[in-house]
Amino acid sequence: MLGARTSRLPSTARAQHLWFELYWLFALSADEPSALPEKQNSKLIIMPERAIEEYRIADEPYYLPVDHEVDLFAAAHAAHLPVILKGPTGCGKTRFVEHMAWRLERPLITVACHEDLSATDLVGRFLIEGEETVWHDGPLTLAVRHGAICYLDEIVEARKDTVVIIHPLTDHRRRLPIEKRGTILDAPADFMLVVSYNPGYQSILKDLKQSTRQRFVAIDFDYPPPDTEAVIVAREGGIDEGTARDLVLIGQKVRNLRGHGLEEGVSTRLLIYAAQLIALGIPPTRAAEVAMCSPITDDRDLQRSIREIVTTVI
Ligand SMILES: Nc1ncnc2c1ncn2[C@@H]1O[C@H](COP(=O)(O)OP(=O)(O)O)[C@@H](O)[C@H]1O
Ligand SMILES: [Mg+2]
Repeated sequence: MLGARTSRLPSTARAQHLWFELYWLFALSADEPSALPEKQNSKLIIMPERAIEEYRIADEPYYLPVDHEVDLFAAAHAAHLPVILKGPTGCGKTRFVEHMAWRLERPLITVACHEDLSATDLVGRFLIEGEETVWHDGPLTLAVRHGAICYLDEIVEARKDTVVIIHPLTDHRRRLPIEKRGTILDAPADFMLVVSYNPGYQSILKDLKQSTRQRFVAIDFDYPPPDTEAVIVAREGGIDEGTARDLVLIGQKVRNLRGHGLEEGVSTRLLIYAAQLIALGIPPTRAAEVAMCSPITDDRDLQRSIREIVTTVI
């Protein structure tokens, strides 16, 4: 049994972890029946960071479909395919995943990726707690264990060795090696891996490798078309649709400045921020300036151009 387990790890990993793994595989635990009887007093406790129930979404997150993304995502889930959501920041990717998790009745575990995120952070670690050594599932392991949707936000920010950990989960194997415990977790049918990626930010140094990206089906996101965006801004910002349409028009004109020094256009999120300020009594021009001008650029000339757009529209 022990041999069968360890031999499923690559040989280098096996060598590195042999001593440690032997210790743990011999230590008794609730879910490791192969452990040896003489160590029956020591305990290995499996401790999820948070109970999976906390990741269930009870109320429908508001999401206005733009294209066929709802059907596509549901089909990918049914076909056990991982999905990559591509698009600029603040255009609805996170809200969409939340909506789909609710629709498919799956818990949603979101991880904001960053350059210090290690494979251990995702998979889990042993922690000494008093007399006991407690295994803590990382978010990815927790999601696989419970057939949840795991959403890795801005995957490209994660370290390369961290990204590699998802590879066996994203092809026909659908399994997660937990090297530290010498086990492999097979993903249940309901488990789904979703990652997001903003193509606008990428440089040669920070790009998703083909070996990673070719494991996903991709759904492209962009700012919603004007009529749809106005409905969203009015509803989320709590303002009338006429004012929302003005904000959307400003948004469109500002987005046209991309390629004229502006890195990325103003997001739907920022249009909603402006709307929220207006709903609280801030004059529309002031609200548009603080939400849609200063946040997106430090360039004085561009800021002046945006302010001109605001005053001509409102
Ligand atoms: N299609 C949509 N339906 C409903 N709300 C949307 C939609 N697109 C964007 N939003 C709004 O825009 C905000 C920002 O979107 P978010 O999902 O956080 O962006 P992203 O994850 O792409 O950065 C959301 O909180 C939501 O209020
Ligand atoms: Mg997001």
